[in-house]
Amino acid sequence: MKNTLRIMTPDDLAQVFAIEQVSHPSPWPMKGLQESLQNHVAYVLEQDGAVIGFAFVQRILDEAHLLDIALAPSHRGKGLGRELLRQLMDEVLVSGVTIWFLEVRVSNVTAISLYQSLGYNELSLRRNYYDGPEGKEDALLMACSTGMG
Ligand SMILES: CC(C)(COP(=O)(O)OP(=O)(O)OC[C@H]1O[C@@H](n2cnc3c(N)ncnc32)[C@H](O)[C@@H]1OP(=O)(O)O)[C@@H](O)C(=O)NCCC(=O)NCCS
Repeated sequence: MKNTLRIMTPDDLAQVFAIEQVSHPSPWPMKGLQESLQNHVAYVLEQDGAVIGFAFVQRILDEAHLLDIALAPSHRGKGLGRELLRQLMDEVLVSGVTIWFLEVRVSNVTAISLYQSLGYNELSLRRNYYDGPEGKEDALLMACSTGMG
């Protein structure tokens, strides 16, 4: 099976929305995804013509901020999330980027472990950053320096 990382288009949004809904306690609505596609860097991971994962990244000067990343549930735990983020950091968003930031729920041990293994460190705690059906939750702010850009 061939996995391809490519730029997201509006035609991908229905599949991205479906993955988003089963990936987060407070998923983005379609409008949020559409606005992110217009305003930020957006990539999908495609397998045999189907979107199986995606990521949104905000660029601000030399900073890249990972806004959202998710894999379809049946494709998780196979190294694809790591490969998606690694390719974005090492190949796609290299020029001019010196540091990556992200927020992650303190309970999301899978994602935290993935980020740590890619070189992210904890910077601080953002209290009550997330809302959701279970109530508010703190976020870890994590950062990874990527050199001179
Ligand atoms: C987080 C997510 C993108 C990771 O992608 P993935 O393809 O499942 O992860 P990978 O298979 O690439 O695994 C990468 C690392 O994550 C960690 N990991 C993966 N599955 C795990 C699990 N069940 N428990 C703990 N850690 C786990 C491990 O560190 C793993 O590295 P290793 O295989 O060398 O041990 C994916 O699980 C997902 O879409 N989750 C729901 C959405 C989400 O939480 N997004 C992040 C929001 S900040």
